[in-house]
Amino acid sequence: MTDKPKKTDVNPRLAELRERRARAEAGGGPERLAAQKAQGKLTARERLDLLVDDDSFQEIDLLVESRASDFGLAQRHLAADGVVVGFARVSGRPVCVYAQDFTVMGGSLGLSHAMKIAKAMDMAMAAGVPVIGLCDSGGARIQEGVESLGGYAEIFYRNVQASGYVPQISAILGPCAGGAVYSPALTDFVFMVDGTSHMFITGPDVVKAATGETCDFETLGGADTHSRLSGVAHFVAGSEHDCFRQIRELLDFLPQNCRETPKAVMASDDPRRESNLLEAIEGYDAKRAYKIHDVIWELADGHQFFEVHRGFARNIVCGFVRLDGEAVGVVANNPGVLSGALDIDASEKGARFVNFCDAFNIPLLTLVDVPGYWPGLEQEHDGIIRRGAKLLYAYCRATVPKVTVVLRKAYGGAYDVMSSKHIRGDVNFAWPCAEIAVMGGPGAVNILYKAELKAAKDPDKRRAELLAGYVEKFASPFQAAKRGYVDEVIEARSTRPKVIRAFRFLKGKKVERIPKKHGNIPL
Ligand code: HXC
Repeated sequence: MTDKPKKTDVNPRLAELRERRARAEAGGGPERLAAQKAQGKLTARERLDLLVDDDSFQEIDLLVESRASDFGLAQRHLAADGVVVGFARVSGRPVCVYAQDFTVMGGSLGLSHAMKIAKAMDMAMAAGVPVIGLCDSGGARIQEGVESLGGYAEIFYRNVQASGYVPQISAILGPCAGGAVYSPALTDFVFMVDGTSHMFITGPDVVKAATGETCDFETLGGADTHSRLSGVAHFVAGSEHDCFRQIRELLDFLPQNCRETPKAVMASDDPRRESNLLEAIEGYDAKRAYKIHDVIWELADGHQFFEVHRGFARNIVCGFVRLDGEAVGVVANNPGVLSGALDIDASEKGARFVNFCDAFNIPLLTLVDVPGYWPGLEQEHDGIIRRGAKLLYAYCRATVPKVTVVLRKAYGGAYDVMSSKHIRGDVNFAWPCAEIAVMGGPGAVNILYKAELKAAKDPDKRRAELLAGYVEKFASPFQAAKRGYVDEVIEARSTRPKVIRAFRFLKGKKVERIPKKHGNIPL
């Protein structure tokens, strides 16, 4: 007969485990946790609880400790070395996650901290699952010197190896300084929380010392700055809860890795639904404004559009919709901002989105209303030739199914760029009001008939006549349709059923790329 262990018997190892665990889970202690709360921020563990499915989190490396000893670190206990790492499920899907703990030395990154994150990334790559980082860190742990720089490099290297293999998402939930911003910059999507998250290479004091400029955290690297001006942040959330909700929503559109396609959902909308609104927009006078978002909502299942980079480069609109239940990436010129012209920011924004969709097998719907590239000294000097070429490069390289609809203008080089037939748009439609030409009528007439207009008795009258002739001949979709550059001129009301039919047809599309190491995108 074996003795049952008595309740009072304490297995010393079990007791030690519990004690070690409790110490590691305590973060920076009550005072620092209270300070974190006072700033309106959640703790690392609360964040993970909110992000992942109930009872799905498996922590790894809880008991890893820093081996650093300089500057008194040998005497300090750094709970979990300032980062909570593991794997879990989000809306039922496996993911790897990490959450930096600002209460432990400001979430600063030492070597052990870095290698915990690196391990999670390796596991994500092996399992083919997304990585989600919840960042709240003062950057490289100064006391660990070059070891923390090396630690960052281990993460950066993995970010790049994982790029295009598994989706990588970063949520900035506090200050992120120095090295702490470069890993997010290498990931696919960056979320920020309005008011509490900041990203900068060097803080306001260093900026002041180096350049004499005075700024505060918000102006330097707040959510508004990065979502509107720099384009570093793709999404802004009103609160951390909202941030996690948005991350879950984004994940719904993504596959687990580049070998899979996004999960389709039960279609919530009639694939044959036609649209009176699109018919009305098609009938507008060419000068009358319409909202590109109305067009996207009208096309999408349930009128739902999950927009990416909403505040940045608003002359191009990117985001995800579902069409007959399938995830589709939308790229649309926005005639309401800069007349929809492509400038540097729009080109870079669009290129990154096209690249992402292509890497993760998300088909692309392109809605074209573009008068060309945005002219000007500033754009030329800032490199619109080099940087504007990125969108062209991205579309030319993309092999996912590509369906294009020319809504109104498709002028000049921008016509070629916006997933035209020539750069392997698979199915290209145009509305009857589309104008596909080298340039707009007034500009073309001034160039073509310069001498004639100079000699004309009544130049304005003559210009109007010549313009009418030009518009009749060139500013329609029919020249392009005659040549097969547009597969069909469609009635606007039937755009949704036509586009859905095209994507259904293209589902099995396979393209073999020319074997090479990699291309050389203009950077
Ligand atoms: C070590 C750090 C730290 C760091 C913060 N702490 N950043 N410890 N290394 N990088 C510690 C602080 O000493 C403090 O510890 C605790 O974290 C909380 O920091 P506070 O300053 O009290 O908090 P707050 O006022 O909210 O300011 C947060 C902050 C600020 C804006 C992040 O701490 C800051 O500016 N930190 C330095 C940021 C920075 O320059 N990082 C770049 C590092 S170089 P105690 O014990 O006093 O509470 C780098 C290069 C890598 O990252 C390059 C790779 C490519």
